[in-house]
Amino acid sequence: MARIGVYGGTFNPIHNTHIGIAQAALTQYKLDKVYFLVAGTPPHKNTADGISDINRLDMVRIAIKNIPLLDIDDREIYRAGKSYSYITFSEYHNERPDDEIFFIMGSDSLINFKNWVKPEVISEYATVLVAPRAGDKMESIEHAIHECKNMFDGDFMLINYEANALASSEIRDSFYSSDIIKADVCDGVRDYIKNHNLYSKYTYSISDVARLDEAMKKELKPSRYTHTIGVANMAYSLAIRWNYPAVTAQVAGMLHDCAKCISDEKRINVCEKNNIPITDIEYKFPHLLHGKVGAHYCKSKYEVFDEQIAHAIAVHTTGCPNMNLLDKIIFVADYIEPGRDKQPRLDVIRAMAFTDLDMCVYLILEDSVNYLNSNPDMVDPTTIDTFEYYKSYIEKR
Ligand SMILES: [Fe+2]
Ligand SMILES: [Fe+2]
Repeated sequence: MARIGVYGGTFNPIHNTHIGIAQAALTQYKLDKVYFLVAGTPPHKNTADGISDINRLDMVRIAIKNIPLLDIDDREIYRAGKSYSYITFSEYHNERPDDEIFFIMGSDSLINFKNWVKPEVISEYATVLVAPRAGDKMESIEHAIHECKNMFDGDFMLINYEANALASSEIRDSFYSSDIIKADVCDGVRDYIKNHNLYSKYTYSISDVARLDEAMKKELKPSRYTHTIGVANMAYSLAIRWNYPAVTAQVAGMLHDCAKCISDEKRINVCEKNNIPITDIEYKFPHLLHGKVGAHYCKSKYEVFDEQIAHAIAVHTTGCPNMNLLDKIIFVADYIEPGRDKQPRLDVIRAMAFTDLDMCVYLILEDSVNYLNSNPDMVDPTTIDTFEYYKSYIEKR
């Protein structure tokens, strides 16, 4: 007979206190394993460009990797129809008839427990372990435990754990402005949040896309506008595949060539006026500057202030070593949008975009370098650096 802990929550995001509580429960109640049971998003909550269920699952996976006795249970994310805890614990009971099940929950959940759907089923099949939250008064938790014991025929017990003052909501609110807050998630989760642009103060809706669509229709030549729509839609699809906020990617795609249809003189002018550095090759071929000028126009002309969007636009022609996820999405979308038909092995590269994004980036760079080698004058050193970076990355991984 095994003793199995099941820790329910949204984990948006998972942080060090969650891990501490799971480990305290393992030790105190001699559990054999703790599963993080990641709750699904209720149907009425709109997360169109927010944090997806998959983002939360990814972060839990990253946080518990290499920590013994911790595991993940994603059944509530993928369950069809309404998902209630009593269904999950009935399933546990049927799947593990010989095991003892412990349901780990925060004290805030316990206070509400009587209002859940069929709480008596949960308390029949599982011992409830309550994790105190920062600022909890011990008497009120003990009172809630006592009340539940009286109301339901089950076991309710306290986990001895001193919670710090942190809640997931504080991480969501202050991730980008506080190093102290950042330190409360592990390195892998911290990198994931940054790479996926989660909890950004900038979020976008379909009305932003419509506004920029109108602006691009006026700004760009018809063929460039058609290409832009292709890139924006492809960026949206790739973002869904790679769990990046999809409308943010669509906005970046919409603006990526916003400085394409202006004169070379104007591009140089904008750079000089705004202290944007120009390389020798960019002086020689000023069209290469449309990325940098486009990034500048994002803020100054189109009121899109997201640094990650500006960066993706700035590097979309050459790429750069160690691109973040949005950089890669825009770089790839620009190359494979449906209007493209001249590049070699496009079918392979398009398929790869949805199965192995880094390999896809590498193949595009390889083809770009081969093409540029036949026109050596035009080679931008950044393209070569980027190619070398991804070549060695692919070889080493
Ligand atoms: Fe471009
Ligand atoms: Fe483009």
